[in-house]
Amino acid sequence: MLQLPAGFRFGMSTAAFQIEGAAALDGKGPSIWDTFTARPGTIRHGEDAAVAADHYHRYVEDVGHIAEAGTHDYRFSFSWPRVLPGGRGQVNGNGLDFYDRLVDELLTAGVRPVPTLYHWDLPQALEDEGGWMNRDTSYALADYAAVLVDRLGDRVRDWITLNEMNVQILYGYALTDHAPALGLGLGALPAAHHQLLAHGLAVQALRAGGAATVGVASQHFPVSPASDDPADVEAAALFAGLTNWTFSDPILLGEYPDPEFTASVPAGDLEIISAPLDFYGVNYYEPTRIEAPREGKDYHGVLEVDVPSGLPFSPVAVESDERTDFGWAIVPSGLTDILVTLRDRYPGLPPVVVTENGASFHDGGPGPDGRVHDPRRIAFLEAHLGAVAAAIDKGVDVRGYYVWSALDNFEWAAGYDERFGLVHVDRDTLDRTRKDSWFWFRDLIAGQPRS
Ligand code: BGC
Repeated sequence: MLQLPAGFRFGMSTAAFQIEGAAALDGKGPSIWDTFTARPGTIRHGEDAAVAADHYHRYVEDVGHIAEAGTHDYRFSFSWPRVLPGGRGQVNGNGLDFYDRLVDELLTAGVRPVPTLYHWDLPQALEDEGGWMNRDTSYALADYAAVLVDRLGDRVRDWITLNEMNVQILYGYALTDHAPALGLGLGALPAAHHQLLAHGLAVQALRAGGAATVGVASQHFPVSPASDDPADVEAAALFAGLTNWTFSDPILLGEYPDPEFTASVPAGDLEIISAPLDFYGVNYYEPTRIEAPREGKDYHGVLEVDVPSGLPFSPVAVESDERTDFGWAIVPSGLTDILVTLRDRYPGLPPVVVTENGASFHDGGPGPDGRVHDPRRIAFLEAHLGAVAAAIDKGVDVRGYYVWSALDNFEWAAGYDERFGLVHVDRDTLDRTRKDSWFWFRDLIAGQPRS
């Protein structure tokens, strides 16, 4: 069995909007994702997350599934509009009480809570004031962080600021596949800067509130050119800069990859953004291949996201013999590559935690034996953990690995068809069934060297 170093932390990850449901209950305000899902044509099969996995009501059972696997850390996110329905100002006591109960339940079960402040569900009230294009939103997030650390800081020691700024900015601000679907193209860059500033301000607020460790969760992926053609090489470098380094260089180097952009941001912002972190979270799913657009070639439908024409780069399919049922290429070595690349690019890189990794397979519900057999998920996770071990062998300081996800959930624009969970959720009854991968994960954790 694969052995990770003593003290290595195994975890499971989720996000509020994808599992909680209770979308308008007990004082919760609407988020941009409630608004987006209500718009016809945005989500596969017209699904929404009004109920999701109903975790809001079933969290005690869910904590049982997490804890009984021997999971060390549970990464979840707070719903900002559940805590502050208007985004700022009046606190919703019911919302805070829910997270208070969840944290106590986890601690009693021996699981360390690792919450994320913001996983894409911006309060609609703030979007109405310009959302992430408005600098005030960065300060609103810091105030929200202060509310949470004030209430939970006596029990929660590890905090994550924002989840995957690059994915939200790309799909929701530059393109239109995710909320708030603004389609601003490169005009989305101010929103990126404001999320980064929000991250820096939240680090300050969390530290002021006594947080023991603070990190961020970033999606990273190796980007390779489709050929040696210099035009492809240049297009790939540009794409990697925009989607990876624009979001990590400010945090880890205190500058943007583009010196002109660095010069254009308000003085002092980059110092705030680059405050030291205790850990750096890496979410990894698959690599990307880029070519310079070929005259007359139709890129429509190459990826699940439609990239507008006229850009100086085009994502093309990654060559791979194996794919998940979501169509994503299975390339475990990409995880080793990106971890090594991050270490080489950032001499001051703090210890890394892989805060998300997992795969959607459509294995169906429990069979006659009452089990959900998901051998491809086990193989996927095993191979990616092997990739983490390889990065550790190459000297990267990786301290933990969290599976995305604890349970089947609402996969954003793809709705409920895509199933990433270690625990199966029946869409009609919402009954939970531990998949074979859950038992595999439990046995893997039990078989690790004692710390
Ligand atoms: C996100 C998750 C999402 C997962 C699988 C990440 O981009 O943080 O919310 O469900 O990938 O797509």
